[in-house]
Amino acid sequence: MARSGGTICSMEIKSKLQELVYKAVCEVAGVCVPAKNIKIEHPEVEEHGDYSTNIALELKGGRALAEKIAVQIGSEYFDVSVAGSGFINFKLKPQYLVEQLSKIHIDQMGKGKTVVVEYSSPNIAKPFGIGHLRSTIIGQALYNLYQALGYTVIGDNHLGDWGTQFGKLLFMINKTKTDDFSIEELEKLYVEFHLHPEWEEEGRRWFKKLEDKNTETRRIWQKCVDVSMVEFDRIYKLLDVKIDNAYGESFYEDLMPQIIADAENMSKKSEGALIIEIPNEEAPLMLLKSDGGTTYATRDLATVKFRKQKWDPDLVIYEVGAEQTLHFRQVFAAAKLLTYVTNVNSLIHTKHGLYLDTDGKKFATRMGKTIKLEEVLNEAIDRAKKLGNSEIETAKAVGIGAIKYFELSHSIQSDIVFDWEKVMALEGNSGPYLQYTYARTQSVLKKAQDSGLKVQSDLNDEELAILRWIYRYGELVEEAAVRYAPNLLCNFLYELAQRYNTFYNKHTILGNDFRMALTQAVGSVLNSGLNLLGIAVLEHM
Ligand code: ARG
Repeated sequence: MARSGGTICSMEIKSKLQELVYKAVCEVAGVCVPAKNIKIEHPEVEEHGDYSTNIALELKGGRALAEKIAVQIGSEYFDVSVAGSGFINFKLKPQYLVEQLSKIHIDQMGKGKTVVVEYSSPNIAKPFGIGHLRSTIIGQALYNLYQALGYTVIGDNHLGDWGTQFGKLLFMINKTKTDDFSIEELEKLYVEFHLHPEWEEEGRRWFKKLEDKNTETRRIWQKCVDVSMVEFDRIYKLLDVKIDNAYGESFYEDLMPQIIADAENMSKKSEGALIIEIPNEEAPLMLLKSDGGTTYATRDLATVKFRKQKWDPDLVIYEVGAEQTLHFRQVFAAAKLLTYVTNVNSLIHTKHGLYLDTDGKKFATRMGKTIKLEEVLNEAIDRAKKLGNSEIETAKAVGIGAIKYFELSHSIQSDIVFDWEKVMALEGNSGPYLQYTYARTQSVLKKAQDSGLKVQSDLNDEELAILRWIYRYGELVEEAAVRYAPNLLCNFLYELAQRYNTFYNKHTILGNDFRMALTQAVGSVLNSGLNLLGIAVLEHM
């Protein structure tokens, strides 16, 4: 095959096309649209082509112009055709698609840039609820995606370990002379406190003691933190999640006076509290309460400042539920006013939705009892066992993988109906299905005999279908990261698995070198993709 400057790989196809279209348009239409402004997309219907551009329509030249441009674009890589009212479609030639197989890679677009991903962030002295599961799983996937793209990524677990609720707890611990510091017991004390509105003042008083660094209260608070961390770590271990840092809210306590000082010229007193008015916002941000205590928002402002000084990130992703939308809008706007950030768009709140029960209600309680994440995870492992994965490690990989995949295959913002049937499905868009397909590629490869690679001239439809999909992997990883949408990667992998299984069911792979190479490529993309999602792969199932 004649080549001028070597072959192009999938990530460069788009720019190569833009360049070709640019030249042709200049030539035929006499207008030179900058190459980067030429839209190149994957048509929705694959038969139309692998890529297409609407440039002739944009230039209001319709089909006639499209045809002239198409004739002008001669390429060794594509077949060019015109469709409808003037779309120009490009179909990659089979030989070229085959070449892409060995070039699948992820572009290092993030080299030199830093991203902070804040995720999980459970609250001390409360059970790790199902609500923090989403944050943990999505946050870890975003972390992995950005890392794969070459960014320096920093994970931070913004633990809820400070605030008036600890005053309430300390008061109760003292009052009841509690020495049982299990999370359940602490939760009970907290509930009981709220049955007595007359104790509110005591709660505030005890929090003040904590803020004033009273040694005894600090000691008891630390005990609550330690007990909770043991529980959380058990869950992180189950989920196979490790978070680089855990600067909890308490860490920012010493920075509070500085934040109040920074805000001096823009804050004002209102009903005893200290607030910052935010233009066009329904409510002001409260810096200090009327009793002088700091707030959740003040600590978040300190966090923005601290991260800027420590890591100078280009982007900070807050993987937190949609119910905190107003809070983050206020914090981001205030951070801009305080010049802690120059660009508010560098602070992103992903706003994940809720888990709903099959009856459409919030998936939080069962018979009046809060559902604990650990119970859900253990149930997933049990169900995986019942599906025939008798080894505990395998059952864990399948059960936990199923939960993670179920979570990630939904768009972040949507509410998810938690349905065990779908989570554990062996067919369809599920974790076990993808793990199974990966294991299938590996078992084919294991059976293979070594021999020289025969280049096949005629490709069948099922082989072409895989080739037409798999080369897009790098693009997809990029899209999933910049759109904060791991579900796009799930969909891509699912489609790839389906195409591979169709191919597998119809053709004999063993003894055919090209088909082996195809199997190898599908296996390594599934492996890489599942890894980015945080899902374990299994060599056999
Ligand atoms: N601990 C909080 C909660 O469970 C989530 C923390 C979110 N992050 C933040 N920077 N405020 O509601």
